[in-house]
Amino acid sequence: MEITVRTRERTYPITIARGALKRAAELIGPCEGGAFILTDSGVPRCWVDELSAQFPRASVHVFNASERAKNIGTYTEVLEHMAACPIRRSGTLIALGGGVVGDLGGFAAATYMRGIRYVGIPTTLLAQIDSSIGGKTAVNLGGIKNIVGAFHQPSMVIIDPDTLSTLPKRQLANGLAEAIKTAMIGDAALFAAFEDGTWKNDIQGVITACLQYKRSIVEQDEDEQGIRRILNFGHTFGHAFESASGGEYLHGECVAMGMVAILENDEIRRRLEKVLCAVGLPVSCAYEPRRIMELVSADKKASADGVTIVRVDEIGRGELRTVSYGELERILTRRAG
Ligand SMILES: NC(=O)c1ccc[n+]([C@@H]2O[C@H](COP(=O)([O-])OP(=O)(O)OC[C@H]3O[C@@H](n4cnc5c(N)ncnc54)[C@H](O)[C@@H]3O)[C@@H](O)[C@H]2O)c1
Ligand SMILES: [Zn+2]
Repeated sequence: MEITVRTRERTYPITIARGALKRAAELIGPCEGGAFILTDSGVPRCWVDELSAQFPRASVHVFNASERAKNIGTYTEVLEHMAACPIRRSGTLIALGGGVVGDLGGFAAATYMRGIRYVGIPTTLLAQIDSSIGGKTAVNLGGIKNIVGAFHQPSMVIIDPDTLSTLPKRQLANGLAEAIKTAMIGDAALFAAFEDGTWKNDIQGVITACLQYKRSIVEQDEDEQGIRRILNFGHTFGHAFESASGGEYLHGECVAMGMVAILENDEIRRRLEKVLCAVGLPVSCAYEPRRIMELVSADKKASADGVTIVRVDEIGRGELRTVSYGELERILTRRAG
């Protein structure tokens, strides 16, 4: 299966196929200015070996797996290694791993020699359905997530669902939260597959459906000025829960709780909770609403007048709406009493 993404910067293919990692060199083609493989220590050796064996002259750089490593220090280290190789302007950076490797590698590729070719090979479900497309790259700074970054479109994305065979169950559920989000805002048939459990027989179908939806949104609004904000469903409170939890909850888990918290339609909320519970995602947490509201207003996407949220009054159809902080607080606390 191949999806073509058309952006201002370039048009690129996403290959989604079992066993695609084995064909990576054939798909990527010659890397004239040198190939640099970036990965982290959490990516199982078998996937790194499978890729690096196809690029015998490539440099392989492995950094310590953690969200905390997505920082300027690791970024500088990567650039230093690339310069030492040397990787030339016509070289290729291949990022093999989850969203951390993708965001850091994408930012290194965006900035090294003012931008070199970037190939993403996402290996977590979250990265395969979400962070691998859209062109956003970033690192964290001073405890603030994704505060330094750039838009840099990949030249190609290779998704091999077989790499998910080694992914821990919690990480799989983390990615499923974003898939369920996609179903809620844009794909009623996908939501039905989650409700009846048939999604389990077709993970490749789930990945494809999510990418097709995200592609259609990103192509309409590359710079996140309008419709792309629909992808933030569940993220208004989700990001605040994530900050409040200090790492206890994963991003997808916070999005799951964030979707439940922002939904005003009781019937839809009950159906969503059932789907989330079935895949092992949390549906509520016990943070102090005042603290959550403080974190919402400190978010980089917030403005003085209020916040743009996503409303879902019908499964498969999200709508943007700007609400005041007072209204948002009412939504957050309405079921507490
Ligand atoms: N650029 C974007 O548009 C965008 C969108 C969403 C999220 N993100 C970013 O993505 C990051 C989160 O990504 P993530 O959830 O993939 O986390 P992650 O990259 O931290 O990966 C989770 C863990 O799984 C390991 N891993 C990777 N592949 C594996 C495999 N096949 N088998 C076993 N273990 C494997 C990793 O080494 C890591 O330890 C965050 O930094 C977030 O900001 C970016
Ligand atoms: Zn997200």
